[in-house]
Amino acid sequence: MNSVGTEMINMIIIALNRYSMHTSKTVSDLNYHLDFEREKGQKIGFVPTMGALHQGHLSLVTQAKAECDKVVCSIFVNPTQFNDIKDLEQYPRMPAADMAMLNEAGCHFVFLPEVKEIYTAGEPLLDINFGALENTMEGTYRPGHFRGVATVVDKLFRIVKPSKAYFGEKDFQQLAVIRRMEQLKSHSVEIVGCPTLRENDGLAMSSRNLLLTPEQREAAPLIYKALMEGNDFIGQVPFSTVKAKVIEKINANPFLKVQYFDIVHPDTLITIKEDEYPAIAQGCIAVLTSGPRLIDNVTYRLQ
Ligand code: PAF
Repeated sequence: MNSVGTEMINMIIIALNRYSMHTSKTVSDLNYHLDFEREKGQKIGFVPTMGALHQGHLSLVTQAKAECDKVVCSIFVNPTQFNDIKDLEQYPRMPAADMAMLNEAGCHFVFLPEVKEIYTAGEPLLDINFGALENTMEGTYRPGHFRGVATVVDKLFRIVKPSKAYFGEKDFQQLAVIRRMEQLKSHSVEIVGCPTLRENDGLAMSSRNLLLTPEQREAAPLIYKALMEGNDFIGQVPFSTVKAKVIEKINANPFLKVQYFDIVHPDTLITIKEDEYPAIAQGCIAVLTSGPRLIDNVTYRLQ
């Protein structure tokens, strides 16, 4: 961000801090304020984000407000989870609009750290073996991504010390990795998965949707449509046939190309074999456009 941008953000922070939601840029300032809440026995709900907020994020804040006394939202574009520098540079950043939305949604605290507040130079990433959870699907195409996610979420949990943390089910594999990280690191945080919010035409809400061209945006709802049409076949024909039909439908659109589509066990994320008949299965997909890469998932009920 340039210095004019930083100055404007600082002015907005001062104004918001005076009237309602408190914004902290440092760990010490955040904890100075959160310690008062903790001493009063207030239950803290946490919504970690990378900003460019949409209604999906706000629904996490709403759920956190309903279940906790105070809500903290972090806005931090985490460099260690980007395996492509261009993707990191292009990631949408709009902190002023984000803070206005959070204030309106009744969020109590925003944590808006700079990279140096979170990472020291050359620091290693969290060393956890997530096995299949990080080596399939997103892990195959974004090597190292989940190590970066787990590292920053672990750090944020240790800073915020929430009772509950809220994540969207749209990032289904991320949610599984975070649940596993919490099992292994035991921060005593309850991980809450929240339903994916969709635009009226079915497209899963995502910060990356802002980067779609009008043509890509028009094509994108086909992803959810095709995933849902999988319901017509699931349990009737082999899983490989369901996958082929969904992929074929999406790839018929010139603006979309399926990178992967798998039907997996929701807990282990392992591909369901043809001779298995689980009660539920998760269809997880990534689709390339010539711009942003889109991911989505749906639950298939077989019984
Ligand atoms: O889902 C996201 O926005 C990010 O991956 C998260 C969980 C905030 C970690 O940077």
